[in-house]
Amino acid sequence: MHYSSLIPASLALCSLVSALNAPRQATNSTKYAVKTPPLTTPWTYLAGTNPWPQYPRPQLERPQWQSLNGIWTYQNASSLDAVNSPPYNQTLSNEVLIPSCLESGLSGLQGQYTIYSWLATSFSVPKTWAGNRTLLNFGAVDYEATVFVNGKNATFHRGGYFAFTVDVTEYLNTNGANELLVFVHDPTDSDPYVIPIGKQTLHPSHIFYTPCSGIWQSVWIESAPSDYITQLDIAAGMDGQINATVSSSGNASAAVQIAVIDRKTNKTVATHNGASNVQCTFSVPSVSLWSPDSPTLYDIAVTLGDDEISSYTGFRTISRGVVNGIERPLLNGEFIFQFGTLDQGFWPDGIYVPPNRDAMVFDLQTLKKLGFNMLRKHIKVESALYYQACDEMGLLIFQDMPALRPLQQHTLANCTVVTILPDAAQQAEFTRQLELLVVQQRNFPSIVTYIVYNEGWGQITTYYPEFGLTDIVKQLDPTRLVDSTSGWYDHGAGDFSVWCHVHDHGNMMYTYHAQDNHHYANPQCGSPFYSIASSPYDPSRIGIQGEFGGIGQNVSIEHLWNVQEAIDTINQTYEIDTTIEAWNYRGHRLLGELLDQVKMYSCSGGIWTQTTDVEGEVNGLLTYDRRVLRPDVAQWQADIQNLYTAASSRVNASMPAGSSGRL
Ligand SMILES: *[C@@H]1O[C@H](CO)[C@@H](O)[C@H](O)[C@H]1NC(C)=O
Ligand SMILES: *[C@@H]1O[C@H](CO)[C@@H](O)[C@H](O)[C@H]1NC(C)=O
Ligand SMILES: *[C@@H]1O[C@H](CO)[C@@H](O)[C@H](O)[C@H]1NC(C)=O
Ligand SMILES: *[C@@H]1O[C@H](CO)[C@@H](O)[C@H](O)[C@H]1NC(C)=O
Ligand SMILES: *[C@@H]1O[C@H](CO)[C@@H](O)[C@H](O)[C@H]1NC(C)=O
Ligand SMILES: *[C@@H]1O[C@H](CO)[C@@H](O)[C@H](O)[C@H]1NC(C)=O
Ligand SMILES: *[C@@H]1O[C@H](CO)[C@@H](O)[C@H](O)[C@H]1NC(C)=O
Ligand SMILES: *[C@@H]1O[C@H](CO)[C@@H](O)[C@H](O)[C@H]1NC(C)=O
Ligand SMILES: *[C@@H]1O[C@H](CO)[C@@H](O)[C@H](O)[C@H]1NC(C)=O
Ligand SMILES: *[C@@H]1O[C@H](CO)[C@@H](O)[C@H](O)[C@H]1NC(C)=O
Ligand SMILES: *[C@@H]1O[C@H](CO)[C@@H](O)[C@H](O)[C@H]1NC(C)=O
Ligand SMILES: *[C@@H]1O[C@H](CO)[C@@H](O)[C@H](O)[C@H]1NC(C)=O
Repeated sequence: MHYSSLIPASLALCSLVSALNAPRQATNSTKYAVKTPPLTTPWTYLAGTNPWPQYPRPQLERPQWQSLNGIWTYQNASSLDAVNSPPYNQTLSNEVLIPSCLESGLSGLQGQYTIYSWLATSFSVPKTWAGNRTLLNFGAVDYEATVFVNGKNATFHRGGYFAFTVDVTEYLNTNGANELLVFVHDPTDSDPYVIPIGKQTLHPSHIFYTPCSGIWQSVWIESAPSDYITQLDIAAGMDGQINATVSSSGNASAAVQIAVIDRKTNKTVATHNGASNVQCTFSVPSVSLWSPDSPTLYDIAVTLGDDEISSYTGFRTISRGVVNGIERPLLNGEFIFQFGTLDQGFWPDGIYVPPNRDAMVFDLQTLKKLGFNMLRKHIKVESALYYQACDEMGLLIFQDMPALRPLQQHTLANCTVVTILPDAAQQAEFTRQLELLVVQQRNFPSIVTYIVYNEGWGQITTYYPEFGLTDIVKQLDPTRLVDSTSGWYDHGAGDFSVWCHVHDHGNMMYTYHAQDNHHYANPQCGSPFYSIASSPYDPSRIGIQGEFGGIGQNVSIEHLWNVQEAIDTINQTYEIDTTIEAWNYRGHRLLGELLDQVKMYSCSGGIWTQTTDVEGEVNGLLTYDRRVLRPDVAQWQADIQNLYTAASSRVNASMPAGSSGRL
């Protein structure tokens, strides 16, 4: 079905407005329409042509801004050399929705092998901005972007999950429209690239999915004075202490003022006068703390000369400590059992991009309703609006670093099989991007833990890089815990001793360096039993279940990613339950096993696989289209509540007879 026939009047008006904002829009490019994806969601046809209108960076928000999201034009390119001959002032072949993944139905392209791409739009700058700087911001471009403004190379950025800003003032035309052209190179897992990609692959199969290329988060311009705030770092503790650094583009010691505002009353509860580019410390009296049950946030206003930005924070302290003989993660000094899902953030219509904010929040609300207090953001980084929603709703986050290529192998000419791992330069780039991750994410109150490596993917074992990487993360952010290796090669680094399922990957294109068995579903959390490819629980660190569950239940074709190759891999699901009753029975048993381990051993948290089905995986709480919720809600709420109750009764009670907290 052609989408344009379905556009409601209000959306048609939006597209008219954005066309007016972009006066030099191509006239003969193929018009934009949603390309029907292999599976839709309830929001697919609500995304519209004016997507993500919210201010994209709520922790450093400026009042004078203009979104450049909307309909741009796109053209495929054939090599890296194309960047040297940009198609200035030309009509590109297709209209495209920005932000989007070029591979998604929502992009209007549903492209494949979009490795080299041109993306173009035009914009005009409000006359009232004259005399100040105009900053051009990108929320994320996967994987490399070269940005041309009016024929000038304004910047280059590498790293598919990170925001960047460039001052484009000197490239602007004083009157009229400006041409913005972006060259994107995204090799994903093609040779010889070994780069952070998470679950993306050019060859989707079972647990690896359709990739995302291009400008996949918001683009906007804003006005700022010549000495402007480039970054705000705030750590706010349970004692009311704030450490803040206001970084700026200019004068290294300009005066700054920081105000802390109680959201409930709009009253300023503290102000501090300091200087830019140095850390300052001050205290706010009698603060309400942030926690999953009471996610209190405070607004922040920062002034540096003529620059005024707004932000927010939450007061809480993350630490670890021995509680009643067991190493525990602490929130505000108390052990709280952290129970979440493996949350991959894939969408059948948008791939990496939720179709709109309502869709994004729907997943989070579903988790809250079932009683989860945490999620593991799995080898992906979301938009700042996602973390803001978790901050506001009270969901703890384990933030994974997007993984390098999983353990894919090459067969050399002499028939030797070698695992593809990063060389020294690729490892250095992985390290640089890990630093970008921490610097970008460390302001969100909801993030409690960083995960460096997932299941050994890209993890060199000839030496143990996870120790150095853990030190780097802790130096950049001493206020969070680090899970250095979630599964597989644990050499003792970091704060956690993680048991993480063992796969049967016998049918897969990737072969793992481990014995196969079929124990994905069952937890072994801080317990005196473990499986062959995991390590025994180490009582000097926190015991958590890095992943478990993953039980599947096939659904009818209208809820499946309707791609035959994906449907053919459904039978690789670790366990398939043939009815929803059987699935709920198994869920109850597995949550009960985890409960035993909380009561009897040293289990401090767990991660259920997973929030939603993804492509050929049918093991979500929700189906991939978000239209079917598998859990028996009352049963799951009770089972999850029992975990918290059991954990809190371990705080003071003596050990149950016949068991042991420390092994
Ligand atoms: C659009 O029109 C211009 C000028 O007529 C022409 O050069 C260009 O090839 C056209 N592009 C497409 C995609 O049809
Ligand atoms: C882009 O070009 C490449 C070859 O250079 C081709 O394989 C690919 O299918 C093209 N993609 C699209 C979306 O046109
Ligand atoms: C620049 O912006 C600031 C704050 O928005 C404003 O006070 C100032 O007048 C502007 N400067 C010029 C030259 O327009
Ligand atoms: C694009 O066209 C405009 C108007 O003719 C011209 O001023 C500008 O220099 C051209 N841009 C480039 C990069 O050639
Ligand atoms: C664009 O500029 C960046 C430096 O900001 C440089 O690294 C890159 O090579 C340039 N690209 C082109 C095509 O000129
Ligand atoms: C602030 O910094 C000091 C010194 O580095 C540190 O001891 C304290 O824990 C920090 N407070 C917060 C809330 O991060
Ligand atoms: C830099 O900031 C300091 C402290 O606010 C001020 O005294 C000084 O005049 C400023 N210098 C410039 C060049 O703006
Ligand atoms: C606080 O200010 C905001 C924005 O000005 C307003 O919407 C809100 O109603 C105010 N809240 C209170 C409690 O005054
Ligand atoms: C196969 O070739 C690789 C790369 O040249 C070499 O490192 C390896 O030693 C060779 N293996 C054998 C068995 O010759
Ligand atoms: C899974 O199904 C495919 C075809 O749909 C079949 O070729 C394959 O043998 C099956 N694998 C298992 C483990 O049953
Ligand atoms: C799952 O359901 C789909 C659609 O009904 C069907 O084509 C496929 O064979 C089923 N796969 C398994 C493993 O049950
Ligand atoms: C544990 O005991 C302390 C001190 O008696 C008390 O304040 C706390 O509420 C108890 N915690 C739990 C979870 O029972």
